[in-house]
Amino acid sequence: MQIKTIHEIQLTKDDDAAIGALLSRAFGQIGDDDFEGRSYYKQRHHLRVLGWEGDHLIGHIALNFRMVTLGDETLPIIGLAEVATHPDHGGKGVASALLEETIKLALDAQATFILLFGDHPIYTRRGFLPAQNELRYVGIEDGHINTVITQVTKHLKVMALRDQSWDDTAKLDLLGHIF
Ligand SMILES: CC(C)(COP(=O)(O)OP(=O)(O)OC[C@H]1O[C@@H](n2cnc3c(N)ncnc32)[C@H](O)[C@@H]1OP(=O)(O)O)[C@@H](O)C(=O)NCCC(=O)NCCS
Repeated sequence: MQIKTIHEIQLTKDDDAAIGALLSRAFGQIGDDDFEGRSYYKQRHHLRVLGWEGDHLIGHIALNFRMVTLGDETLPIIGLAEVATHPDHGGKGVASALLEETIKLALDAQATFILLFGDHPIYTRRGFLPAQNELRYVGIEDGHINTVITQVTKHLKVMALRDQSWDDTAKLDLLGHIF
C-alpha cells in the first residue's frame, strides 16, 4: 500500500468520487452509510491520509486542525474523522498503518491532542484514551446549522501529543461542528 496525504483544496473530482465510494462501502457494511457518495459527512476537512493499492483507494482518514476550548483553555487539536478501510482489504493492517502516519503528522503539527469520536478497538490499542467530557458543538442538519448541541458522549477518544494531560472533567467546546 502507498500512503499519500492530500490537502482538501487539492482534491480532484476523481479523488472525491473515490473517497465517497470508499466511505459508502466501508460504512455501508456496518449499516451506517450516511455519505450518499460524498467524500465527507457534514462538512469538508483539512487533510486526507489515503492508502492506495495501485489505482484503488483502500483506506482513508480525514484530519481537521481546529481550536477547541477545554474548560478555560483554548487548545489546538487534530480531529480525526471517517476512518475507513475497503471491506476487501480489511484485517490487513490498512487502518493501523494510516493511523500511524496520522499520528506522525499530528506530532509534527502545532497540536496538543488528537481527538476522535469512535469505539473501534484499533484506537485504544494504539494508545487513545476514552474521555467523557461534556461536549458542546454546532448541529448541522440538511445543510443548515439547526442548534447548538450539549451532551456527554461515551465515544470521545483522546491522545496527548505533548506533556499536557487531558482534563476529562472540563467542558469541551468544539468551536464548530463535530468531526
Ligand atoms: C474499522 C476499520 C477502519 C478497521 O480497518 P482495518 O484496516 O481492517 O484495520 P486493521 O487491519 O489495521 O486492524 C487493526 C486491528 O484491529 C483489529 N480489529 C479489526 N476489526 C476488529 C473488530 N471488529 N474487533 C476487534 N478487533 C478488530 C485487527 O485484528 C487489528 O489488530 P492487530 O493490530 O492486533 O493486528 C474498518 O473495519 C472499517 O472501515 N470499518 C467500517 C467503518 C468504521 O467502523 N470506521 C471506524 C469508525 S469509529
